[in-house]
Amino acid sequence: MFESLDMAPPDPILGLTEAFQKDPNPAKINLTVGVYKDAAGNTPILDCVKKAEARILKAETSKSYKPISGAPEFAAAVQEILFGRDHEIVSLSRAATGHAPGGTGALRVAGNYLKAHFPSSSIWVSDPTWANHAAIFRAAGMEVKTYPYFDRAGNCLDFGRLLGALEKIPAGDVVLLHGCCHNPTGVDPRVDEWARIGDVLAERKILPLVDFAYQGFAEGLEEDALGLRELCRPGCELIVCSSFSKNFGLYNERVGAVTIVAATSDVRDAVLSHLKVGIRANYSNPPAHGGEIVTTILGDPALRSDWTRELQGMRDRINGVRILLVETLAAQGVDRSFIRDQKGMFSFSGLDKDQVNTLREKHSIYIVGSGRINVAGMTEKNIGPLCDAIAGVV
Ligand code: LMR
Repeated sequence: MFESLDMAPPDPILGLTEAFQKDPNPAKINLTVGVYKDAAGNTPILDCVKKAEARILKAETSKSYKPISGAPEFAAAVQEILFGRDHEIVSLSRAATGHAPGGTGALRVAGNYLKAHFPSSSIWVSDPTWANHAAIFRAAGMEVKTYPYFDRAGNCLDFGRLLGALEKIPAGDVVLLHGCCHNPTGVDPRVDEWARIGDVLAERKILPLVDFAYQGFAEGLEEDALGLRELCRPGCELIVCSSFSKNFGLYNERVGAVTIVAATSDVRDAVLSHLKVGIRANYSNPPAHGGEIVTTILGDPALRSDWTRELQGMRDRINGVRILLVETLAAQGVDRSFIRDQKGMFSFSGLDKDQVNTLREKHSIYIVGSGRINVAGMTEKNIGPLCDAIAGVV
């Protein structure tokens, strides 16, 4: 049976890391996958994570299964950082949260839930979007469509076309939005634009699904949730898929969450029952360790303040390197000033496919095909050669 299979194409993001690892050039630079690196080029384990792990190891007495949807304490912690402690979604118990293996796992659980219960709903993703979104929702059996998002000539949000497109999406479809730090463009709507988006989705009875993988990487934990909270209205329904890979640096622990907000707490109970059926048939119940780290840190004031400080350190370094990139390119005569306004780990550089290929083939500089650069992968050491090479290809 297996002999009939041809090779599958490499993954557009992780496949480049595999190619990078095989590249013998000692001067190679990897700016592909969205993983934070410090000034020395390392991906650190946060101090607050190490402290939480020490506590967990000391206190744990069993490796028995978690509940299907994860620990209730984890769900409460997730809802608090998404909506805020006093939000009526929390106080009225309107949200069901399932602990999922990473943000990708959360998106897939959401896709399975939508396909199982709303089989004729399509999901609309921004053009462009994260390279894995379409694959996840197609694998769940959903039809994936796109809405315009980015103005390539102006290197900014094309809000007019975005809103116009949302106004034509049929009721009962699902629109995927990036909570902050849009991947790959780094271009987010302003809070007042989120409010307009929320109006259109509510009027047209379109379900928002917010992929929230970078909370804390744009301006701060609370500030980054303001767009999401514009969608959180009395009686509304929505889905949020959280990832804790980036903001806790827990990439390989695979810790994320799917949160489904219902109009009332009775409906929420039914939603949770179906969420559990979907999870049980998928991975049964979540891996414990990463979720326990997140719960321990968020539940302890001292660890939590260590975490917000360390998160701010990552954010500040990324913002500093982004400005250094713009200035170093400007010194080479390459104007990329629009990169200053982009948010989060990525910069949409404006490099086209041919330029990206030349950078890889001639200079062993690895960038995602869309021209997306992981700013966090830049260091004082590699920024000079990188900008020289970019100036050479443009
Ligand atoms: C990225 O976009 O690079 C990250 O979200 C990591 C991934 O899994 O692709």
